[in-house]
Amino acid sequence: MEFTPFFFLLITIIAFTVAAAQPHSNITLSSFLTTTTAGARNLSWLSPSGDFAFGFVPLPTNASLFLLAIWFANLPNTTTLIWTPNRDKPLPPNSSVILTSDGQLSLRDPTGTEIWNPGAPKASYAAMLDTGDFVLAASDSSILWNSFSDPTDTILPTQTLSPGTEIVAKLSNDDFSNGRFKLRMQNNGNLVFYQIAVPTGYQYSSYWAANSLMANSRLIFNVSGSIDLISPNGSVLSTLTSATMKSTSDYYHRGTLDYDGVFRHYIYPKQTTVAGGAAEWLLMDFKPADICQNLITSPGSGACGYNSYCGYDTKQMVACQCPVGYSWVDPNRTYMGCKPNFTMPSCISGVPSEGFQMVRIEKLDFPIEDYDQFNPMDEADCEQQCLDDCFCAASIHDGIGNCWKKKFPFSNGRKGNYVSRVAFIKVSNNDNLPSSHCTKKRTWILPGSIVLAGSVVLNFIILSITLIYLRKSKRKQNHQLNDSVLGPNLKAFTYKELEEATKGFSEELGRGACGTVYRGYLGPELTGTPDLAVKKLRDFQPDIDKEFANEVKSIGQTHHKNLVRLLGYCNQDMKRLLVYEYMSKGSLASYLFSGIRPPWEQRVEIILGIARGLRYLHEECSTQIIHCDIKPQNVLLDENFNPRISDFGLAKLLKTDQTRTNTGIRGTKGYVAPEWFRNSAISAKVDVYSFGVMVLEILFCRRNVEKEMEEEKALLTFWVSDCYNDGRIDALAEGDEEAMADMGRVERFLMVALWCVQEEPALRPTMGQVTQMLEGAVVIDPVPPSP
Ligand SMILES: *[C@@H]1O[C@H](CO)[C@@H](O)[C@H](O)[C@H]1NC(C)=O
Ligand SMILES: *[C@@H]1O[C@H](CO)[C@@H](O)[C@H](O)[C@H]1NC(C)=O
Ligand SMILES: *[C@@H]1O[C@H](CO)[C@@H](O)[C@H](O)[C@H]1NC(C)=O
Ligand SMILES: *[C@@H]1O[C@H](CO)[C@@H](O)[C@H](O)[C@H]1NC(C)=O
Ligand SMILES: *[C@@H]1O[C@H](CO)[C@@H](O)[C@H](O)[C@H]1NC(C)=O
Ligand SMILES: *[C@@H]1O[C@H](CO)[C@@H](O)[C@H](O)[C@H]1NC(C)=O
Ligand SMILES: *[C@@H]1O[C@H](CO)[C@@H](O)[C@H](O)[C@H]1NC(C)=O
Ligand SMILES: *[C@@H]1O[C@H](CO)[C@@H](O)[C@H](O)[C@H]1NC(C)=O
Ligand SMILES: *[C@@H]1O[C@H](CO)[C@@H](O)[C@H](O)[C@H]1NC(C)=O
Repeated sequence: MEFTPFFFLLITIIAFTVAAAQPHSNITLSSFLTTTTAGARNLSWLSPSGDFAFGFVPLPTNASLFLLAIWFANLPNTTTLIWTPNRDKPLPPNSSVILTSDGQLSLRDPTGTEIWNPGAPKASYAAMLDTGDFVLAASDSSILWNSFSDPTDTILPTQTLSPGTEIVAKLSNDDFSNGRFKLRMQNNGNLVFYQIAVPTGYQYSSYWAANSLMANSRLIFNVSGSIDLISPNGSVLSTLTSATMKSTSDYYHRGTLDYDGVFRHYIYPKQTTVAGGAAEWLLMDFKPADICQNLITSPGSGACGYNSYCGYDTKQMVACQCPVGYSWVDPNRTYMGCKPNFTMPSCISGVPSEGFQMVRIEKLDFPIEDYDQFNPMDEADCEQQCLDDCFCAASIHDGIGNCWKKKFPFSNGRKGNYVSRVAFIKVSNNDNLPSSHCTKKRTWILPGSIVLAGSVVLNFIILSITLIYLRKSKRKQNHQLNDSVLGPNLKAFTYKELEEATKGFSEELGRGACGTVYRGYLGPELTGTPDLAVKKLRDFQPDIDKEFANEVKSIGQTHHKNLVRLLGYCNQDMKRLLVYEYMSKGSLASYLFSGIRPPWEQRVEIILGIARGLRYLHEECSTQIIHCDIKPQNVLLDENFNPRISDFGLAKLLKTDQTRTNTGIRGTKGYVAPEWFRNSAISAKVDVYSFGVMVLEILFCRRNVEKEMEEEKALLTFWVSDCYNDGRIDALAEGDEEAMADMGRVERFLMVALWCVQEEPALRPTMGQVTQMLEGAVVIDPVPPSP
């Protein structure tokens, strides 16, 4: 049928009312939806309960392109799509979907050209059901076609994956087009995960399977909350994922093959969405357990793109990374892999190893596609062999005498504690290797090992470099540190410059254990930041000159939005100063204990931010930084009230050193972990303890120790623990209506805090675990013992 403008106008008039968002029991013939305005989300047909919507959603990356889709209509985030038929062909405004007068469901572009049609027999009506299924039905209500039988990447409770059907992941978090992984229910009864090629869908090898060994088995999302492989006679053969403790009447459930190739079972509480949408999708279960280890494709790049390697982020999503010296081919499409930041050596030019060096990365392996192997060979030779070979882009050593050489590009990279091998990656000498990148752990080759193994020419180069370095360090001793030693991001100030910037150290911002902080003013031409905080250190270790350089360097390499940035330093004569960004909203302590309770959501964000900053210091820096003095006075707020940890890395600069070889204690009473007072080793867990105390303070807006209060309430940690054990959390949040309305989260945060303040350091979680628990990414299992 021709879709003329006149006809279009007619339909517009007839069906105008249909376009409003109301629950539709039956969608009658000639009903339609049109994408009119960019970003409009009202254009949908809702299920009677209002839980599900069928209609158009704009792409998150381009609000003037639309997908026909089914989504959770009650959730604040419409980007969790359940189904879409045009994932590879999003449509512009004025596209439409129509249930034609002859009973066909037709998706059309603005010219009226049909883009998609399920090809079902003539329907009498359509309906968006409360299960999330969109159906075309005959007049006797028999189903002619339904979206459940033609799934995209997600299945819902009551849905079945029949023999011969599959779901295909989306390409990336915000690209809904056909992705790199699929899950197929085969006719032979096996449920198999495959990696597939983009764009053709060519099927690479499988990486996980649940084998039923019975033809015509199905995958059923049981309404009780488990996803099972079911035999033709109805018996459960195996369970793929399960969340039966969370009733499908209280929680939305979905099983999604995510863009990273992992099938995840998520739930979302139905009630909190009514209260205000603070909730999020919680991960309950997933398969396969470790895709980084399970997936090996050849041909194919593996779970991540070429030259990159597989690991996990804190939400247990696959996180791919580039080795040192490599960067993303396209940062927005990391699955395309990494490219070298330099020209690979060519075998045409004579001396191959000149201009290149090898970078050692522990626990990294590219397990297949070697072009050469040696045995026995030690690590140093394995490294040198690759450096000297113009074909070689990387070599791998297994620690027991095996060495493998790799050509460019390398595939199937994985990094983790389960890897016992070490990789050597060839990079250019000239490449400006980043010194500010804290997340990449690097161990540089020691000059000594090369001097032993290297050629005469190389020895000469190394010797020269060493001499230059020594000259530089000498210069540094009588004057100030050289920029190139400290990295490009830090500025070395003279004392005079800082004296001028602080107007003779006239405006004091605060005083702490480390020294006094002054406000500074510098023109943007010097640092790009108009306002500074200049910290004059006192009591630093006199013989610290060399360490000062190292410590300042490691502080300067940290980069995280929840840390106060170090901009520069001064190390002149006996004066040591550190120059930081100025934080306009002052300290968390003054904000929290001013008597006016900060908004609940803000406090939640502050807790999460501090946790992430600490996790970064503990787990993501090349050298771990233990703060040793976490307290609200040392958390500053920027103009958006983002928490920023300050004074980190100072423990080693001051007399009161974190190894406690010196007698002083840097920590502050009320926040320090009990092991400070015992003769046991100090670890990052001291920060976890202090963090736990601080979380309680932020939750309940009071100091840990309030001498004025009644005895049972005077020490916050004890009071909280008592209340928690008595099941009276509400007593703690009394008078705080916002928190009372979010009791689930209060309880979660409180449990995390109680775990953090355990007396035994080993019982305390790591900051990585803390962030996961706070974010709800993992379930907090047992009840914390009383601290
Ligand atoms: C959706 O509809 C509501 C009520 O009809 C209206 O207030 C709102 O502005 C609409 N939103 C959009 C994006 O059209
Ligand atoms: C969004 O899509 C439209 C239509 O394809 C295109 O013209 C426009 O450039 C896109 N906008 C962006 C920001 O990519
Ligand atoms: C919506 O969900 C997507 C994917 O789960 C996420 O990337 C995005 O940040 C969310 N948006 C909001 C506003 O929560
Ligand atoms: C969509 O159609 C309307 C009415 O026919 C027209 O006014 C508008 O310009 C069209 N928009 C686009 C983007 O084509
Ligand atoms: C939908 O239409 C069918 C066929 O006309 C009818 O049998 C059924 O009762 C209708 N359902 C509702 C909820 O209106
Ligand atoms: C769902 O699970 C329950 C209990 O495990 C079982 O009794 C029921 O038959 C299952 N439903 C389907 C459709 O398999
Ligand atoms: C279904 O098949 C399984 C496997 O052959 C068998 O063990 C079970 O007894 C059968 N159940 C029924 C109800 O027939
Ligand atoms: C590679 O180059 C890009 C820009 O060309 C730069 O941003 C990145 O930091 C470099 N990475 C490495 C490891 O040198
Ligand atoms: C990545 O995406 C962002 C936002 O869509 C865009 O601004 C940026 O230009 C993209 N970068 C590249 C390299 O395509």
